[in-house]
Formats: sequence, C-alpha cells, structure tokens
Amino acid sequence: MDPRTTRLLLILSAFLAGLILCFTVVLIVTGRGPESFASTSAAIGGPFKLTDQNGKAITDRDLKGRPSLVFFGFTHCPEVCPTALFDISEVLSKLGPDASKVNALFITVDPERDTPAVLKDYLASFNPRLVGAGGDAEQLAAVAKAYRVYYKKVPTKDGDYTMDHMAIVYLMDKNGNFVAPFSLKRKPEEGAAELRRYL
Ligand code: NI
Repeated sequence: MDPRTTRLLLILSAFLAGLILCFTVVLIVTGRGPESFASTSAAIGGPFKLTDQNGKAITDRDLKGRPSLVFFGFTHCPEVCPTALFDISEVLSKLGPDASKVNALFITVDPERDTPAVLKDYLASFNPRLVGAGGDAEQLAAVAKAYRVYYKKVPTKDGDYTMDHMAIVYLMDKNGNFVAPFSLKRKPEEGAAELRRYL
C-alpha cells in the first residue's frame, strides 16, 4: 500500500470510530437503546429533595407506601407535557377513590420559570392528585440523574427559550423501585388497571 492510501485509511477508520462512539453516547444519554434501558432500569429512581407547588419540601420518602407516576416536563411545553398530564389525569379519574392511594408527580425541568406559584396555577387544569415539584439547578440535576432524564435549555429565534426533555412516565412501586415506563397510549381504564396491581 502506498503511504497516501494508508494515511487515508487511518483517517477514515478514526472518523468511523468517532462516529460509533458519538452514536453510543447519544443512545446512553437519551436512554433510547433498548438494551441500555433494560440494563439500567434497576437503577432508576432514588433520593431527591424538591419543593412542591405549595412551597413545601417534598422528597422521595413522601412517595413511599404508594405506587407513583413520575413525569418530567415544564409548563411552557406546547404539547407533549399538557397531553401527558391530561392523559395521567384521565387514568387517575378512572381510579376513582383509589386515586388517593397513588402518587402522581410532575417535576419541572424549567425551575427558572416554573416557580411553585406557576406550577400551582398550571396544575389547576389537571387532576388534583397531581403534585408539581421543582428545585434549584443542583436539586434538579440530582433528581434528573437519578431518573436518567435528559433535559436541555434550547434558545428559540425570538430570544426566548424552550426545554428539550425526555417524556417518559415512570411507574415506581410503593417502595420507590422503578417498575416500567407507564404507557399513556391506551385506554385510561387499562392504565388504571395496571396501577391497581401495585396498590
Ligand atoms: Ni414537554
């Protein structure tokens, strides 16, 4: 092989290796790799300390004793978050009185705008069982890390910003252990039936 071909091959293989590495990192960070998701599922969840929509402290210990739905989002979200919160509300309604035996937690990834008062106002449109929570940047980073949630501030053209975030609803059992992603793509009765199994 002449030296030029060798050099070209070296550059090409370095480029390919870099590409594979980037792709793997993206899969791990977004949790989109089905295998990475399954293998890390046991480690989802953990201790957190946040502030609820009434300005009261809320921690992982407050969720214990009841199964929980945990969802990360932000109130300025145009579609994904309100749709998910609406669907969760429907599931909670179908639970009837059993809804009081379930936690539903909406954690904001945009604490800058989503103060407790903003969260409280926003959640008034949904099922009253839904609890909103936020924290400072450090507290948010900790809880997002525990749940392996990706979020990122993205500037918009008008000088404003939006939040890129993962929209998984986590089903946690009454001991705070991750069970599975909770599907909202089914009849609310079916979601309610699944939750009842963890009461
Ligand atoms: Ni959203």
